[in-house]
Formats: sequence, C-alpha cells, structure tokens
Amino acid sequence: MKGTIFVELIKMAEEAFGEDAVDDMLDRANLENGGAFTAVGNYPCSELVKIVEAASAQSGLSGDVLQRKFGHWMLAHFVVHYPEFFADKKNAFAMLEAIDGEIHVEVRKLYPDAELPKFETERVTADHLDMTYSSPRPLVDFCHGMIEACVDQFDEKADISRCPVHADPNSTTFQIKRPS
Ligand code: HEM
Repeated sequence: MKGTIFVELIKMAEEAFGEDAVDDMLDRANLENGGAFTAVGNYPCSELVKIVEAASAQSGLSGDVLQRKFGHWMLAHFVVHYPEFFADKKNAFAMLEAIDGEIHVEVRKLYPDAELPKFETERVTADHLDMTYSSPRPLVDFCHGMIEACVDQFDEKADISRCPVHADPNSTTFQIKRPS
C-alpha cells in the first residue's frame, strides 16, 4: 500500500493520542521498519493492520471503529489534495459511482503499483445505491468510513447498511439509502 496511507494513519493517531504515545505504540507494534514510513514508499497492508491493532490496544476502541474513523480522515485528505475529483460531481451517489471507473483509474495511472479495491454499483431506486466492494485486503470498515465521509462531504444524509458477501470476509455490499 502507498506510504501516504501509513503517514496519514500515524498523523491521525498522533492527533488523537499525542506524539509520545504514538512512538510507544509503534515500538510495541513489531513493525518491519520500526515505524519509519515515508509518503513515497510502499508497504504491506499487514503492517497497516498491525498499526490499527496497536492503536486499538492503546485506545480501547475496536479495530473496526478505528478503521472507520481513518476512512473519514483519508477522505478529508483526498478532498484537500485531489479537489478536482469532487468538483464535477453533483452528489455523493455520483461520486461513489465514479470511483471504480474514473477515480481509481486515474490513481492507477499516477501510481501503477497502487493496491486498489473493486467496486460494482447499482442504482436500485433514485434514492438507493448498492455498492459492492471487494478487495484482497481486510479494509471493509475503512471503506465504510470513506463512504460515510463522502456522503457528509456533499452535505447529504444517508443510511448505510452492509450485507456481507458469503465466503469472502473482505467483501461486502453497502446499501446506501437517502431519505426520500
Ligand atoms: C468515497 C470515495 C472513495 C472510496 C470509498 C475509496 C475506497 C478506497 C479503499 C477502500 C481503498 C483501500 C484499498 C482496498 O480496500 O483494497 C482505497 C485506496 C486508495 N484510494 Fe480510494 N476511495 C475513494 C476515493 C478516492 C479518491 C478521491 C482518491 C484520490 C485520488 C483515492 C485514492 C486512493 C489511493 C491512492 C489508495 C491507496 C492505494 C494503495 O495504497 O496502494 N480514492 N480507496
């Protein structure tokens, strides 16, 4: 995974727990590189999982909750650093529908080694979007947080529920329903 993701996760932890606590936490996380991540590096997702587990032990919050919070943090980061992807979308559904066929396609051009998930979307009704996420990485809750933050970003409200894909713990269908 891209180093930016690690750098942002550590920034979020530092803001929540303070720099000294995060240094201790990274020491205890048994990381291959001792916690020295750079934005231009590439690191295994298993290292990200170790940091989330260490942050969970530190805070008492579950890994799922932390991943979700991190999804909000990361979406806010993308809004600031890639505003052009958001500017031409008229609402959250349009944004979510553009990730697989447009946004992550551009990300892949910029970073050919990016590890990106797959999305399939279906408009069930005008106010109900189904979005099936699949990835070899255990990041369903991170994705959930990004979708929630995307809805917030467009100043909208939506109820987001999940319907797991059997036999694949890293995949899920998000059912995103706007109040009609
Ligand atoms: C609501 C909108 C978005 C959602 C739900 C979303 C979802 C995700 C998820 C879940 C991942 C983690 C990889 C995985 O699950 O296998 C990911 C990775 C990534 N996404 Fe998106 N994304 C969104 C928008 C964006 C935007 C606007 C950008 C900006 C360019 C972006 C750039 C990236 C990058 C750089 C990675 C990391 C790839 C790597 O580490 O190798 N995404 N995205």
